[in-house]
Amino acid sequence: MHNTQELRTIAVDTASRVAEIFLRRFGHACAGIARAPGRVNLLGEHVDYNDGFVLPAATDRATYVAFAASDSQESQLWAQDYQQETRFSPQSLQEKRSIAGTDLPAWGKYPAGVAWALMQASLPVSGLKAAYASDVPRGAGLSSSASVELAFAMAWLHIGAASLAPMELARLCQQAENRYVGVNCGIMDQAASACSEHGRVMHLDCRSLEYQTLPLPEGVVIVVADSGVRHTLAGSAYNDRRAVCEQAVALLKRHLPGIRALRDVSPADFNRLAPDMPHEVQMRARHVVQEIDRTQRAVKLLRSGDMRAFGALMNECHASLRDLYEVSCPELDVLTSVAQSLTGCYGARLTGAGFGGCTVNLVEGTQANAFVQALRRGYKASAQRHAEIYICTASQGANILTPSELAGQKMT
Ligand code: GLA
Repeated sequence: MHNTQELRTIAVDTASRVAEIFLRRFGHACAGIARAPGRVNLLGEHVDYNDGFVLPAATDRATYVAFAASDSQESQLWAQDYQQETRFSPQSLQEKRSIAGTDLPAWGKYPAGVAWALMQASLPVSGLKAAYASDVPRGAGLSSSASVELAFAMAWLHIGAASLAPMELARLCQQAENRYVGVNCGIMDQAASACSEHGRVMHLDCRSLEYQTLPLPEGVVIVVADSGVRHTLAGSAYNDRRAVCEQAVALLKRHLPGIRALRDVSPADFNRLAPDMPHEVQMRARHVVQEIDRTQRAVKLLRSGDMRAFGALMNECHASLRDLYEVSCPELDVLTSVAQSLTGCYGARLTGAGFGGCTVNLVEGTQANAFVQALRRGYKASAQRHAEIYICTASQGANILTPSELAGQKMT
């Protein structure tokens, strides 16, 4: 487990490491390092694509891209975590191909998708030389994809001397993921990676994209626990859930013609109309309608500092994701139930899309170390697996570090 200063040092280390890797591969120093964080979500799960409200915070784990402009239109990217290189041009990326005519590697579709989305928006996309690495674990529900997208978007904007409001950048990266990579995600991950503020939680309206940030009360810490489980079916199951939500809206529209999304359905209307819906549609939509309501109640509790009541809503959310939305798995259920039984834990639930990955826990700061150890032991005893568990500082959204800033270690 790391304290804030140690994590800052790790972040600086990762940034310095990609700068060094860049130097070794390209033979000259990089022009800058783009950093974009992953996220956890305290409440509002599977509601962003239903126009709901979410409460994410950026994590202190991030993707770092050391970059410089190339002297041609060609981009040359080195992925340290995959030990692979790819090269593409504005023409080849339209076909999702490298310069050599081969399919882009899966990881390369994220930066190529960002270049594609920038071009669609008529923003400058010159050739980029880049080396990148990430300490956001992949496929763990902590938005590693959004962090890669945002970091590359920042790098391209920087070398093109262009700028875009953070939320616009988030939308552009979501387009890259929806229309180029082919994952039909909502806006939450990209918005959190782009717009978060240090030490604060973001309250985002996923319809209007208006947001405000709220401080995490003194003495309360976020603990992230990684179940170690990765489910490859997550993409198709995610898209299925989205489709069922759309089906629910179509059915409810017969009685409530004014609605556009499940966001527009009150819990009372839902309860009245739900019996006419097929069982599966009813379960999924019930989660969404109640979760949107829960999130709005939770914001008031966060403002008043009632973390016990806030945590109880997190626990309710987990039960709903498990029983109604059916996106949990046995390991996540073990992690949350062990956590919920421990002293100092306000609330625990799975975070992100589910089907594996991480839980997010709100814990009384003075109990945090004991909590981490007891959770690790409890998970090992019940699930026979090791969980990586750490205290997470809510960090600021995507930014550019210049090599001189790096030397001065100005990270947050
Ligand atoms: C993934 C998606 C988000 C959101 C969450 C579930 O992280 O990328 O848009 O839908 O799942 O809340």
